Amino acid sequence: MPAQNTFKRTLVTSALPYANGHIHLGHIAGAYLPADIYVRYKRLRGEAVLYVCGSDEYGVPITLTALKEGVSPTEVIDRYHTANAEAFGALRVAFDIYGRTSWPLHADTTQAFFRKLDEGGYIEKQDMELWYSEQSRKFLPDRYVKGTCPKCGYDNANGDECENCGAQYAPKDLVEPRANIPGDSSRPELRPSTHWFLKLQEFSGAIKTWLDSHPEWRANVKGIAYSWVNDLRSRCITRDTDWGVPIPTSDPGAEGKRIYVWFDAPIGYVTNTRQWALDRGLGDDGWEVWWKDTTSRLIHFIGKDNVPFHAVIFPAMLIGQGDYIAADNVIGNEYLNVFNRQTGRAEKGSKSRGNMISVRWFAEKFSSDAIRYYLCANAPEARDAAFDWDEFINRYNGELCDVVGNFVHRSLTMTYKNFEGKVPAPGALDADDTALLESLPQLIDAVAESLEDFRFRQALERFIEIGRKANQYFDTKAPWVTRKTDMARTGTTLYVCCQVVRALCTTMAPFLPDGAAKLAAILGIALPAGGPDGGEDAWNAARDRLSAGHSLQTPVVLFPKLDKDYIEELAAKHAAGEAV
Ligand code: 2FM
Ligand code: ZN
Repeated sequence: MPAQNTFKRTLVTSALPYANGHIHLGHIAGAYLPADIYVRYKRLRGEAVLYVCGSDEYGVPITLTALKEGVSPTEVIDRYHTANAEAFGALRVAFDIYGRTSWPLHADTTQAFFRKLDEGGYIEKQDMELWYSEQSRKFLPDRYVKGTCPKCGYDNANGDECENCGAQYAPKDLVEPRANIPGDSSRPELRPSTHWFLKLQEFSGAIKTWLDSHPEWRANVKGIAYSWVNDLRSRCITRDTDWGVPIPTSDPGAEGKRIYVWFDAPIGYVTNTRQWALDRGLGDDGWEVWWKDTTSRLIHFIGKDNVPFHAVIFPAMLIGQGDYIAADNVIGNEYLNVFNRQTGRAEKGSKSRGNMISVRWFAEKFSSDAIRYYLCANAPEARDAAFDWDEFINRYNGELCDVVGNFVHRSLTMTYKNFEGKVPAPGALDADDTALLESLPQLIDAVAESLEDFRFRQALERFIEIGRKANQYFDTKAPWVTRKTDMARTGTTLYVCCQVVRALCTTMAPFLPDGAAKLAAILGIALPAGGPDGGEDAWNAARDRLSAGHSLQTPVVLFPKLDKDYIEELAAKHAAGEAV
């Protein structure tokens, strides 16, 4: 059995997506599907797991969208919060709570974080020079001002960072600035403004010690985290905007300013835990055990762009609170790009290019299992991956349908038809029967071991491997032939096959919840979903045997194959920009 941790409970978070657009397949492959698989697996093991997420609803992109559309920011966030919650549901990504950073409770949590950091001496004020538009009578944070990057010369750089070369700079260093507001592209002027900064450099030592204590983390996460920790400096917490959590101070200069989104967004994990505990009637303090008790374990799932926030900045904010636990792991995934059939190359998914595939578009067309299978089989774990229509159909049809689906279906239909819908009684087991039955515990453990190590691609390969071994056995034993001459032998073969099907049912559950539920209903076995309170170890039951005479329900196809023409039709629509 793979080693399990000694913590009493695990809090899993997935990055809060901006409520500023529809989530796409890249999001799912990076921060949500691996987390959901992990949560389902741990819960099957009977562990107490809480899974929190929600919308990230502040920030300049949202107010800019609202301005462009001529609607309020609230209308924008309501629209995308609802749409994204539905999209996650369609893929069976099952959070315990999908909260909102626009909740008043979140302002309360964020302000408490700010106050505590301030009391600890970790916040300072600095006078800055920022771009101001006379025409719009406002300061121009971030994307409200565009100009030429002082590092690479890119002419569409933002106020303090360049999307082209990744450079970050003081706003006043932006070359040839222009306002970027609908109806205002005037040349702004520099004006003084006071802002609040988090003194991140004060946490360098503590963050380094914490990072050093986790040699088991993925190399990509450690690499990014160490590159930041060696160069920490004060980071501006506030922005000149009216869209955000108010600064909890009446100091002069606070008017017209709000806490900025990088600071409040990760605190959303805490807010959403608080709200979850309140909803469950656990009282005002019910959330604290998840964040402050050293027997709790915190794991963040994110895309790689969020590594600095989860492996350096938010941990610093937590350390500054004094009584929070530090994350035990930060699972940062690389990007899922999009394969372009015309150029034969993978390219970055982008809204403006129109090559992104939104979950709402895709999930209307394919089953959650097909989508989850492909995105996990092709997960961008150690390196970037790319969505490719040919690979999607080939892997789903060729692996999940042809290997596992086919084995399960032929085993169950033959059993059902020839043995009155019951698991047959085995005769004497031969070497092949014994070898397969005896290998099952190890095969199941191998899947678990990969999941414990956050190697989701490998875990899925190992799951498919069980199907491959089972098919080899089935073909060797040829029950469709022996059925004509030797029913006793056929019964033994199908008895063994039913045991493998039973093992497959549990092991597929974290990856393919719909298929697993269908199969569990056919087999008449329980697959408890578990939850934040923990429960029995149902994963272990994967090695239990179905007894001879156990009744089965009528088998159905678990994973219907995809049709090539349908895929081509959709690939053409995608190429025409309809999938965004
Ligand atoms: O990158 C994003 O989509 C951000 N909204 C993620 C925030 S993660 C966490 F900090 F909430
Ligand atoms: Zn640049």
